[in-house]
Amino acid sequence: MEKMDWDTLELACKSCTQCGLCATRHNVVFGVGNREAKLLFVGEGPGEQEDLQGVPFVGPAGKLLDDMLSIIDLTREDCYIANIVKCRPPRNRDPQQEEQAMCFPYLDNQIDLLDPQIIVCLGRIAAQKLIAPDFRITSQHGNWIHRQDRWYMAMYHPSALLRDVYKRPETFDDLLSLREKLRELGMCKDTGIGYVQRRELGMCKD
Ligand code: URA
Repeated sequence: MEKMDWDTLELACKSCTQCGLCATRHNVVFGVGNREAKLLFVGEGPGEQEDLQGVPFVGPAGKLLDDMLSIIDLTREDCYIANIVKCRPPRNRDPQQEEQAMCFPYLDNQIDLLDPQIIVCLGRIAAQKLIAPDFRITSQHGNWIHRQDRWYMAMYHPSALLRDVYKRPETFDDLLSLREKLRELGMCKDTGIGYVQRRELGMCKD
């Protein structure tokens, strides 16, 4: 696919019919956030609410993602948020390899335009597509990989954290590590960690 500017890319993506997911979608979920940001979060694919509203991470997992961002003093304006596939897989099944492959040029073009210094993969599907095909989220989340002038890290998907609250303390460590990396790269707004909020979210170890 020839590289496009933001507006052309968004238009092309929103009229895409390259895979079967277009038949059941209500909206293409292109991406949201700051197009100047150097921090990119990549999820798996839209869920029900995202499909209905056309915006990534606006359902329950999105609410948790916003909370996770806020405990390291980030908002959606500090980053860009996109997905591996832009259309909802029926009943929230995993996107198939072929669907991922057809959709990947859109994300690849978004990455080109953003030129992020840090890419955080949310969950296994994004990590296997962007970091390594055999990536194991349980053992490799939180690990930093430096590749082609860019830092990559994966954390548990917020949906996994909704299903299993015992994964949350490890995710807090990953968030701290992200904040440390932002600081290292001079990308950090330096304020404290919201302890009360961290407690409420079950991200405390003590
Ligand atoms: N889960 C994802 O991976 N992406 C979304 O946009 C919403 C839920």
